[in-house]
Amino acid sequence: MVKAAGCAAKIFPGILSEALRAIEWHSDENVLVGFDGKDDAGVYRVNEELALIQTTDFFTPVVDDPYTFGQIAAANALSDVYAMGGRPVTALNILAFPQTEDISIIKEILRGGADKTREADTVIIGGHSIDIPNIAYGLAVTGYVHPERIITNEGAKPGDVLILTKALGTGIMNNCIKFSSLDSERSDALLSSMLRLNRNASECMQRAEANACTDITGFGLAGHAMQLAKASEVNLRFFINSLPLLQGVTDAINANMLTRGDRSNRDYTKDSLMTEGARDTVLEHLLFDPQTSGGLLISVPQKNCERLLEELKQGGDEVSSVVGEVLKPGKEVYGKIFANYDN
Ligand code: CO
Ligand code: CO
Ligand code: CO
Repeated sequence: MVKAAGCAAKIFPGILSEALRAIEWHSDENVLVGFDGKDDAGVYRVNEELALIQTTDFFTPVVDDPYTFGQIAAANALSDVYAMGGRPVTALNILAFPQTEDISIIKEILRGGADKTREADTVIIGGHSIDIPNIAYGLAVTGYVHPERIITNEGAKPGDVLILTKALGTGIMNNCIKFSSLDSERSDALLSSMLRLNRNASECMQRAEANACTDITGFGLAGHAMQLAKASEVNLRFFINSLPLLQGVTDAINANMLTRGDRSNRDYTKDSLMTEGARDTVLEHLLFDPQTSGGLLISVPQKNCERLLEELKQGGDEVSSVVGEVLKPGKEVYGKIFANYDN
């Protein structure tokens, strides 16, 4: 029923930043992460030992089954806390639902959210609902982190290795479900990826002393990587042939199952993206595909990379791969993304 599904329904980043810029935001010295750096979540210091991570995410259905949708929306909302190196503690439901629809759907969406937050050892302690023509669901989540152990998007160091913990292509594959069909093998791979919490990935990267992290969601790999590169004042190189991909995604690209986010994310990153080697116009779409409940992009010191990969895989994040490296900034030139097609 929806115009754009999941994180593909985000407001275009250009429009949003213009609106945000127009306002003078109130702040205080306990704001450790606000939204100037375009990080995954805000962080507020309570005392020397404790800071609160706060984030919200909600979106329109990505799948027809309401229970599955509830779980995916919750996994996606919890992810921003994991990306900051924190532990989600409490959550609030956010629900939009047309009352003319079958009310039993509400129960199934909320049950999905409840089950996924329980899996994350997070308690739902309230929420808010509105009656509007579109269905949307998500959470506002609060997490705990030690103020000195926040993993932001501004700590990436030249020489770091970039690891991605989930396969790319959820936007494209969700479009397949919407406009045509997916065989059960491909749809199972898609669903289990979106349903998976980034909890293990987060715990592993904390142990590996990651320098920076962000989760890959609506702005796609290129968009979130660009934000990380700008915040860290570095450049990034991605090995396009090493990107982990969802099963069937190249077929789907060839069948033109692209989302509107493909174009807006391409536009968002156009001044920052550079090509190295012979460009592959099919694989290239994976840079721009908006991800729903995508994986973590982790910038980790080279010396800890192998151990991190091993632990990620042991903990169930099997597709985790080295996808790139962090480069020194040029003469005051940073925030660039090099898409390398050579190896
Ligand atoms: Co995020
Ligand atoms: Co988010
Ligand atoms: Co209210």
